[in-house]
Amino acid sequence: MATIIHDIDEMRRRADSIRASGQRIGLVPTMGALHDGHLSLVRIARERTDAVITTVFVNPTQFGQGEDFERYPRDLARDLALATAAGTEILFAPKPAAMYPAAYRTFVNVEGLTDVLEGAVRPGHFRGVTTVVSKLFMITKPHIAVFGQKDAQQTAVIRRMVRDLNFDITVVVAPIVREKDGLAMSSRNVYLTAEQRREAPVIHRSLLLAEEVLRSGERDASAVRKRMGELIARDSSGITDYVSVADAESLREIDFCSPGESLLVSLAVRFGTTRLIDNTTITL
Ligand code: PAJ
Repeated sequence: MATIIHDIDEMRRRADSIRASGQRIGLVPTMGALHDGHLSLVRIARERTDAVITTVFVNPTQFGQGEDFERYPRDLARDLALATAAGTEILFAPKPAAMYPAAYRTFVNVEGLTDVLEGAVRPGHFRGVTTVVSKLFMITKPHIAVFGQKDAQQTAVIRRMVRDLNFDITVVVAPIVREKDGLAMSSRNVYLTAEQRREAPVIHRSLLLAEEVLRSGERDASAVRKRMGELIARDSSGITDYVSVADAESLREIDFCSPGESLLVSLAVRFGTTRLIDNTTITL
């Protein structure tokens, strides 16, 4: 079994001694309820480093009022077994009161990139993400950190933060792992009713439709957004929060898709109280 560490100082000492022995550390930050998407990140970290630290921390500062912080699935014993099998050396699971003591006052904020898409719908979300990821970087001292393309905007924001704050860490981005029917794996999929679960792969189908429409010559981004929205409305009870065709680097919405431009097509759809996100990148 991987060693489980709850204490921040103990984690720092372990990271120091791993580094002192000349070994490279790979970090995989998660909020737990591990699935094959998370475990693919652990395997990538394992291939590239000597010691993988997987963190499990349901980070209160990235949840808004009325979001699912309280009901977010938690099962540390299961996470420990799965993370170990995938190649984790240390599972770091700090306590919220240790990460954010009463006197806590410091936040990391990436501007611009965080106002759009998820950031527009979930104000303060990315400030919580960049703050906790910075803290985890300082505590676990990794050489590389692996994040999933599933959260495309999060990845873009973290890359920006690492460059802007000169963190001496290589960010590795792993592809999206999907269920057989195309639904992107997510810890939140367990909230879906059987009916919603049957409908949810429409999210992935809308991304495939976008790709097909763009590849067959459509250049008007609003026409692509409209086709995706129509498919979701036709084939499911899902309520579309947003459909976006944006520049993959700046995350700004685009009007016309030009050849060679890297596009991020992304969307968020609500099934009842469950909100799912997915995306694909396309270069024409
Ligand atoms: P969480 O949602 O648990 O995801 C942890 C990591 O797993 C993220 O990098 C996410 O992109 C990746 N991931 C999730 N589902 C995936 C899938 N289907 N395929 C590939 N990768 C997937 O993202 C967070 O936690 C938090 O914001 C965190 C970065 C831990 C900060 O609290």
